[in-house]
Formats: sequence, C-alpha cells, structure tokens
Amino acid sequence: MASAKKYKILFVTSEVVPFVKTGGLADVSSALPQKLQELGHQVRIVVPKYGSIDERKYKIHEVVRLKDLTTTIGKKEVVYSLRSSFLIGSKARVQIYFLDNKEYFGKRHSLYSDPLTRKQYKDNDERFILLSKSVFELIDKLGWVPDIIHLNDWQTALIPAFQKTIFKDNENFKNIKTLLTIHNIAAQGIFPKSSFSKTTLPDNLNNEKGALFNGKLNFLKTGLKFADTISTVSETYSKEICKIPEISAGLKDEINCRKKNLFGIVNGIDTLVWNPEKDKKIAKNFTIATLKDKLTNKEELADKFGIDFNPEIPLIGMISHLEDNKGFDLFKKAFKEIMALDIHLVLLGTGEIKYQKFFENAEMKYPNKFACFIGFDDDIAHLIEAGADMFLMPSKFEPCGLNQMYSLVYGTIPIVRKTGGLADTVVNYNSRTATGNGFVFTNYETKDLVVVIKKAISLFKDKKAWQKLMKTGMKSNFSWLDSAKNYVGLYKNILK
Ligand code: GLC
Repeated sequence: MASAKKYKILFVTSEVVPFVKTGGLADVSSALPQKLQELGHQVRIVVPKYGSIDERKYKIHEVVRLKDLTTTIGKKEVVYSLRSSFLIGSKARVQIYFLDNKEYFGKRHSLYSDPLTRKQYKDNDERFILLSKSVFELIDKLGWVPDIIHLNDWQTALIPAFQKTIFKDNENFKNIKTLLTIHNIAAQGIFPKSSFSKTTLPDNLNNEKGALFNGKLNFLKTGLKFADTISTVSETYSKEICKIPEISAGLKDEINCRKKNLFGIVNGIDTLVWNPEKDKKIAKNFTIATLKDKLTNKEELADKFGIDFNPEIPLIGMISHLEDNKGFDLFKKAFKEIMALDIHLVLLGTGEIKYQKFFENAEMKYPNKFACFIGFDDDIAHLIEAGADMFLMPSKFEPCGLNQMYSLVYGTIPIVRKTGGLADTVVNYNSRTATGNGFVFTNYETKDLVVVIKKAISLFKDKKAWQKLMKTGMKSNFSWLDSAKNYVGLYKNILK
C-alpha cells in the first residue's frame, strides 16, 4: 500500500478523559487523538492543568524549555509553564501538554464555573486567552511545527485570529492550518466589550466585523471568522446550525458565511471503554450470546438507586446535563404523565438548579419509581448503560450525543428526539418491517414524548421482538476508526 501522507496535529481542548471531564468533549479529545496516532499521524494535545488533575498519578513532569514562559493578557504579564505527560491508550501513546498556572487553573478544581455559585468564573476570558496564546509559545519553543491545529469549542477559538494577526510574522506559524470543531454552538464564550483589550488583538477587530457580536466579545464567532475550516460533530447538526436560528444560537449568518468550509463528522465511541463484554465498571459482563446477564446489571442498578428490582418493568436510564437544550423543559412538563406509566426511571446528572431541585423533590414524591443522583459518577454512568432497558434523550438539540451510541452497544434501547447526531445514529423502530434500532420522536411536544415512551413500553412486553432490537443495537459499529479517517480526509483537504 502506498503510504499516505502523515500529519502533525496539535489538538487543543479544555478537557480530556481520563484527566478531566464535564461532557462528551472530553471523550472525543481522548479517543480521536489516539486513533489518529494509531493511523500513523503525530498528535500532541494541549489542555489546562486544573486543580483536580493528579500530577503524580499521571506522571506530569516539567519540560525545561517550557518553564516560566510569559505572555500578556491585556496589560497584565502572566507567567506559566507547560508540563508534559502521555495519554496512554491500548495502542497509542499521545503526548499531552498541561498548561500550568496556579491563579487561573491550578487553584480551581472545577473547569468553567464556581461549584458553589454555579456561575461561570469571571475571568474565563483571561483563562482561555492564556490557553490560546500558550499554543504559539509551545510551537515556538519546541520547534515542533504542526500541519494542523485542531481546535475545539469556544475555549480555543481565538487561536486562528491570533495566528492571522499578532503572530502573522512568525515564520513557524505561517503554513499552519486551523480546523475548529464545534461540539456545541450554544456555548460561545461571550464577554463584555471591555474584555476585548485583554485579547491583545489589533484594534481593527474591536467591532462587529471583527471579534464582537451584538456588542460583546464573542470567542466562537471570532473562531468562525478566522479558522480555515469548521466542522461539527454530526452531519445533521452541521445542516441544522445553518438553517434553524434556535439551534444556531444567534450565529446562523456567521455560519452561513462559512458554509463552503463547514463539514459534519459524527463522533465515534471508544470501544475499549464502552464494551459490555469487557467493561470492568459493571456488575456482570455480557454479550449477544449471554444477554440474560444484562439482568444482573439491572438488578445492581435498581439496588444502587433504591428501586425494587423487577425484570418485567422497564427501567429507563438518563445521563445528562440538566438543562433546556437537553430536553429538560419538555421532560419536566411531561414528567407527571411519564410517572403514570408502568416504568422505573433513574437519572444521573447535574445542571440548572431548578432541575436539580425538581428531581430531588420528585424522588420523594415517587419513591420506588424514580430516583436520581445529582452529580457525575463514571461508574454509575457505566452501570446505567449496562443495566437499563431503555435510555431516554429528549434533546431539543444534540450536536452528536454519545450516550445513545453507548446505549445501543449495551443493548439498551435509545428513545431520542430526531435532532443532530441523534437523528444520524438512531433509526425509529418500524413494527411492520421490524427494522430500526430505537425509538424516535420528532416534534418537541410532551404528547409526542409520552407516545414514543409508550411505544417502547409496549414493544418491551414482546420479549422476542425486544431481544431482536437489543441485538441489532449491540451489533452496531461506532468505532472511531471511520470518523478518524474522515478527519484525516478533512486535514488533507485543508492542506491542499
Ligand atoms: C457536546 C455535545 C454533544 C457531543 C459532545 C462531543 O457535549 O453537546 O452532543 O456528543 O460535545 O462532541
């Protein structure tokens, strides 16, 4: 086989599994670099070193050349270091650099917001300006010049603007191309206009044509303007953000300006981490051939949440950020009707306080029927995927969504709304032809949500049909290999 060109890729992100995670971005930031490296490319990752990252456990060490670097944020001089370690997968070892600065990251355990007030940290602008600028210093000091800087979400979105303005005369950076992947267009990194001066971008960008949007500094919008190419994490979502104002969260025109350079590549799942045959976090491993062992997980799950185990009653699982975008306004409205159905329901997640309170109350109101764990716990997440019969994701929008894919391979039937990545991975069950892999509803209406759950419950009673559906899901192939190859195709296209 002729050897295809291998690329150097610098992958910049604000979270990576297993070091830190608040959402799917962390899974992607771990699995994709590993796959790319397995394919022969050279990948290095940059991420902040938050206080919660254990230096010893992960053997994070000093790099002399990257110690005590300085940059400016507005008029302030900031000193930081980049320390190094490896992201160790089964086949690949990816070098990872941790941005180390006590004030901005090391002192705080939480990533973006104060755990007490739940408010975004006031200096998030400065924190992620620092992350963005550190990338240039890293390249310069190491002399390791990537072909591509692969950016993720608003936290990294100023990088292309920096490259094309304040760093434009540096020879090292001249030929680097940037790809900005949007995992969620609703999070844009919006700050007061006065924050513009902190970026140290030239004054001619201090306007709506530049880095401002509706009178405020907007990181993501700036990224959309300056990145060479843009991608999102599913085909459908890439189309939705061009068309549906609500989904584009105000940036519809900005996205449409870049339509020629906009692509959708659906995420894969890490099949070493999410595999019911090997998963060490669940009560009992199972495969298509030993489906009944899934019940042991159901029993353990029910037990963990204090619900009576009953194989005949469908147990629905949910794992989510508790916010409107994930469908919680709809779910809350339909909750009473859903509780009237013959089901058990368990929920894991954190989010808006009003939802946390609502579910904590619901737990008391519906004992032995509904239970929640407000927080995030990876072990419980695995047990929910393994033990539940059905998995509910009523998202208003969903850039990709990973849990529906985890569910499918664990024989847990997804019930989802037809949007974004959910639309690209879940096919509605057709009772006439017995095809499909889950249950899908389209209209964002309580009636439609309740109807689709009822459909799932009714099929659950037909043991044979249900098992067939489980097996269909378990045979799915969501490996990262295909997606990683698509990213390589995209890099190639950008570098042409
Ligand atoms: C964000 C999106 C989610 C996606 C994930 C990884 O969390 O909301 O849909 O799966 O990023 O790309």
